Amino acid sequence: MDRLKGKIAIVTGTGSGIGRAIAQRFVDEGASVVVADIAGAEEEAAKLGKATVACTIGVSCSADIQAMIRTTTERFGRLDILVNNAGVESKQAPTADYAEDEFDRVIAINLRGVFLGMQYGIPALLASGGGSIINMASIAALVGFPTAVAYTASKGSVIQMTKTAALEYAIQNVRMNAICPGVIWTPMVERFTGGSAAAREQFAQIEPVKRMGTPKEIAAMALFMASDEASFVTGTALPVAGGYVAQ
Ligand code: BGC
Repeated sequence: MDRLKGKIAIVTGTGSGIGRAIAQRFVDEGASVVVADIAGAEEEAAKLGKATVACTIGVSCSADIQAMIRTTTERFGRLDILVNNAGVESKQAPTADYAEDEFDRVIAINLRGVFLGMQYGIPALLASGGGSIINMASIAALVGFPTAVAYTASKGSVIQMTKTAALEYAIQNVRMNAICPGVIWTPMVERFTGGSAAAREQFAQIEPVKRMGTPKEIAAMALFMASDEASFVTGTALPVAGGYVAQ
């Protein structure tokens, strides 16, 4: 219930799926949460109640990220937890056919967005005496996924950035971890199914547990990584994927 009592957190990409579930769980556990998204942040904050503040940002925009951090420290006086969750799926095509501008777009949001979050979030966490950064990677960071070169490149790099920054700031008590979700039942995955029940069933069969994960199951891991119970956990990239990477 009170596992994040008194903590100040930012979660990006709170408009749907995993980000929304994380923001909800953090509020339920007593945190004050800044919900940040490219659209709909105000509505999301209103739903989550008085412990939340809305921020409309594009994560690939440096000025937006700086404003998000500033809003948080001005409003709450500190920052304890930053979840760099916002990301996009990529258009599908084999590597030789992959559109350059689509590659750049996915890298800008999924990779540069996380970099900027860390770059401007770390000083605020240091000023608070330490904290926890959680970056959303993917099982597509750990194994190849045909036709998803931009997505796999972006998510693989998220892990490397997480490990690098974890080493840089370990001594200063800023922990950095990545979560690698498997196939999670979110609007993003629903878009891949094209709304077809048969496609949904195929997605459900991908993981050894023979079902998709839920956003809440990712939020539970984010909660653990954010909380003081994870005080000795840094530099990890943890699959939450129903056994997918054990195969
Ligand atoms: C939502 C579900 C929805 C699913 C697929 C999840 O994030 O919680 O209500 O059915 O995404 O769109």
